[in-house]
Amino acid sequence: MAGYSFSLEPIEVLPVKTANRLIQTRIPAPGTRELLARLESCESRSMQGQLPIVWQRAEDFSVFDLADNRYIDFTSTIFVANVGHSNSRINQAIGSTVNQPLYSCYAYSNEMRANYLEKLIAFAGHPFEKAFLLSAGTEATEAAFKLMRMHGQKVGKRRLGIVCIEGNWHGRTLAAQMMSSNLAQRQWIGYQDADIHHIAFPYPWELTEGQGADFFTAELKKLINTGIDIAQDICGFMLETFQGWGAVFYPKDFVQAIEVVCREHGILLSFDEMQSGFARTGEKFGYQHYGVTPDLICCGKGMGGGVPLSGVLGRAAILDLPEVGSMSSTHSANPLVCAAGLAVIEEIESRNIVAETKRKGRLLFAALQVLQDRFPNRVKHVLGQGLIAAILIHDPKSGQPAGEFCSKVAQLCMQQGLLVVHTGRESIKIGPPLTISDDALLEGVEVLGNCIAKVAQE
Ligand SMILES: Cc1ncc(COP(=O)(O)O)c(C=O)c1O
Repeated sequence: MAGYSFSLEPIEVLPVKTANRLIQTRIPAPGTRELLARLESCESRSMQGQLPIVWQRAEDFSVFDLADNRYIDFTSTIFVANVGHSNSRINQAIGSTVNQPLYSCYAYSNEMRANYLEKLIAFAGHPFEKAFLLSAGTEATEAAFKLMRMHGQKVGKRRLGIVCIEGNWHGRTLAAQMMSSNLAQRQWIGYQDADIHHIAFPYPWELTEGQGADFFTAELKKLINTGIDIAQDICGFMLETFQGWGAVFYPKDFVQAIEVVCREHGILLSFDEMQSGFARTGEKFGYQHYGVTPDLICCGKGMGGGVPLSGVLGRAAILDLPEVGSMSSTHSANPLVCAAGLAVIEEIESRNIVAETKRKGRLLFAALQVLQDRFPNRVKHVLGQGLIAAILIHDPKSGQPAGEFCSKVAQLCMQQGLLVVHTGRESIKIGPPLTISDDALLEGVEVLGNCIAKVAQE
């Protein structure tokens, strides 16, 4: 089938039976290819390309396929199931809203919306006073883009420039795509907004400690040399909290230097917290690792625990810039998703998930360090924080990024009952539900190591 780089042919694999995994059929499981063919006949091909597994059900950190094979989930779908798949508190919250009965009420008032927004703002803490809720992550980054520009207009900027970071990614709608620096993905737009600028990403392996601020100053100078006046022509910075494909965090002093420039020139600082929010990195939000205070944060994914919920949070003065009715959406703050969102925060708080993620992150990174020591010529970097990690793999002979090797490892892991995030690049990404047991976490890393060894032997 056209859009799949993975083999769809079911093959015999060694059976697996542990406390956390069960593989008892050929893989992909019988029926998988047929279902993919049905989808191919009626769905846009842009949806293809993932590992060939049919998700039949998912509970906590386990995913079950059509044949009831059980996989340890290192994906959380795509960093969504932070509080575990099919979380019972979320189930109950959705159920009681349905039973009320109420599904949807557009922008008419609703008690659940008030309950959720109050809780969300209390959870996020200073300086966040208000939020605007949406459904998709890309809508949240679009909304932040709009708010940064409206604020720029309000304070009398000459131009409404937004500075973004090369290699970062913010979604697939117009402004989000333009803020992302993936040129191939934004070719369809046909032009580039002259007031969206990109500066280079400070990859940690290209810098030594303490060079982040200087790196930023040099990038800023390059912008100034193109004729841009930072004070008059820039109204916002948009940062993905870490660069997604490789869980690459910035040097702290790089981000702090950006904040200084923002404060000096009335520029808003926004973080795209899609992957990093809601406890994923061992803090409530990933920006907290940098010791800065953003003006806006864009959230999604784990925010809804599996239902389509996203949002942008900021100070009231910024969130209230749009006129009544000019920033709303049909499904904004739908009572079902608000009930789920509220349950996510209650779950994070009642199970101490932020601190637990920090603790489990230490376990994960210790195990990944052992894995790197086992393959020193292949595993070039182990990156991440909390329960988001990426191992970056290079070819031991050429030293070049080994994307295909990573795809093979991802497929082999699946055959052995472990789902990792296939990035299509030289990284294998790990982001289990934050509720994963220590035991399953370590078992998953062991499987990953064995799969790397096997693919390397081939
Ligand atoms: C950092 C980041 N920003 C924005 C988005 C877009 O979110 P969505 O796919 O919900 O529109 C994603 C999704 O992968 C993301 O990882």
